[in-house]
Amino acid sequence: MATKTLAFDTTTYAKRRQSLMKSMGKGKILLLGNDTVGMNYKDNYYPFRQDSTFLYYIGIDQPGLMAIIDADKGRTYLFGSDLTIDDIIWTGKVPSLHELAEASGIERVKSRVDVIKYIDADVHYLPPYRDDHIVLLSKLTGRKNRKVTKRVSNKLIRAVSKQREVKSSEELEQMDIASKLSHQMHLDVMKAARAGMKECDLVSIAAQAAWSNNVSFSYPPILTINGQVLHNHEYGNELHDGSMVLYDGGCEAPSHYAGDITRTFPIAKEFTIQQKSIYDIVHASYDKAVELSQPGTNNIDVHIGAAQVIATGLKNLGIMKGDIEEAVEAGAHTMFFPHGLGHMIGLDVHDMENLGEDNIGYSKSVKRRQEFGFRSLRLGKALKEGFCITIEPGIYFIPDLIDMRRKEKMHKDFINYKELEKWKDLGGIRLEDDYVISADGANKLGIDIPTSSDEIEAYRAEALS
Ligand code: GLY
Ligand code: MN
Repeated sequence: MATKTLAFDTTTYAKRRQSLMKSMGKGKILLLGNDTVGMNYKDNYYPFRQDSTFLYYIGIDQPGLMAIIDADKGRTYLFGSDLTIDDIIWTGKVPSLHELAEASGIERVKSRVDVIKYIDADVHYLPPYRDDHIVLLSKLTGRKNRKVTKRVSNKLIRAVSKQREVKSSEELEQMDIASKLSHQMHLDVMKAARAGMKECDLVSIAAQAAWSNNVSFSYPPILTINGQVLHNHEYGNELHDGSMVLYDGGCEAPSHYAGDITRTFPIAKEFTIQQKSIYDIVHASYDKAVELSQPGTNNIDVHIGAAQVIATGLKNLGIMKGDIEEAVEAGAHTMFFPHGLGHMIGLDVHDMENLGEDNIGYSKSVKRRQEFGFRSLRLGKALKEGFCITIEPGIYFIPDLIDMRRKEKMHKDFINYKELEKWKDLGGIRLEDDYVISADGANKLGIDIPTSSDEIEAYRAEALS
C-alpha cells in the first residue's frame, strides 16, 4: 500500500472514476494534466497549478501527466515519465509515478509517448484552456487547432460537471479549510490597516497570512480603496481616514480547494454615515440571499431577491424611486449592482468555468439573461444540496457609468439623478462568503468574522486602540 501522497484516499479517486465511466457508458476519456509554463524562459516558470479535473479524478499534483479513463474496459491508464537522476539533483527525491498511481488506484502506468496508441477518433476530451493543450490535442487527434476546440465532448462536460458540482463530505471539509484560511487572512488585514499605509502593505500582510500556513492565494487579490472598480489589481494608493478598503481575497487549501471572501472596512474607527447606510443595505441584501438560497430555488431568483433589497435600500435613501419590482425587472439597479450575486466554488474559485460558464451555471430550463448586469450572473440554475457557492452582493458608485446613464436619461423613472450626485464619490462596498447548500438551506463555510457594520467598527476600534 502506498503512503498517502494525494489529498484523498485511493478509494475516493477510484470511485470518482467508476462513477464517471458509468455516466459515460462507453468510450475513452482523455484527461490532460497541466505542465509548467515559463515566465521568461523555460526553467523560470509560473507557480505550477494542476488542472482541477485532473486533480479531481486522478489526484496527482505534478506536471507532465495525462490519463485515459477507458469506460469500455473499466480501466485507467496514467501517462508520464519518472524523474531521472539529472532531475532529482535539482528537485530532490519525489515518489515514483508507480507509487503515485497506486495511491490513486491506477495499475497501468505508461510512458507519455505511448498515449497515442490508446487514442481513437472518438476520444472524449474537455475544452482546452491552455495553448499547449490545443497543440497536443491537435497532434493526438490529427485535427487542426480550430477543430480541436470545436470537437470537445459535450457528453463529457455534462458528466464531469454533474459529478463535480455536488461536493462530498470530504470535499466539504476541504472547502471549510479553504474558507477558514481565507477568513483568518481577512482578520489579519482588517486588524493591520492604518492611515498612511499603502494598499500594497496590506497585500503583503495578506500574503504573509497565507504563506504562514504554507498556502497561497486562490486568485490575485483585489485590495483597493477604489472598490467601485470591480476587479482592481493596482495596489499603489495610500490609505487615509475617510476611505474604505475593499478586500476580495481567498486562500487555496493544500488540497487546492478555494476560498473567496470579501470584506469592506473603514480606515478610521468608523464608517461615515453615508458609508454605513450603504454598507447596511449590502448586508441586508446578503442576508436576504442567504435566506433565499434553498435547494430547488433558481439562483437567478436569489439574485433578483438580493437586487430588490438593494433597490429598496437605495429608494429609502432617495437615490432610487418608483416600484421596486419594476425597477429591478427594467435593470435600473444594475447601475449600482452590475455583477452577479455569486458563482460556484470548489477546486476552482469560479468552479469549472473552463467547461463553459453556461454549461455550469445554467440549465435547459434556466437560460442566461443577456441584459447588462444579468448577463454577469455566472450561476442562474436551481441550487442543489452539496453545491458550494459564493454570496457576494455589492453596491458601487461608478462615476463614468452614472454620467453616461444620466446623459442618456436611462431609467429616469427609477433613478433620482440629482440625489445621486451627492453619493457619487462613495466608492464601492461588497460583502462575500462561501456557502454550502444543505437540506435546511445555505450554511456558511469557514469561521465567523466581523460581518455587520457594527461588528466591523468594533473590530477596527479594537485594532486601533
Ligand atoms: N473573487 C473574485 C470573483 O469572484 O470574481
Ligand atoms: Mn467571488
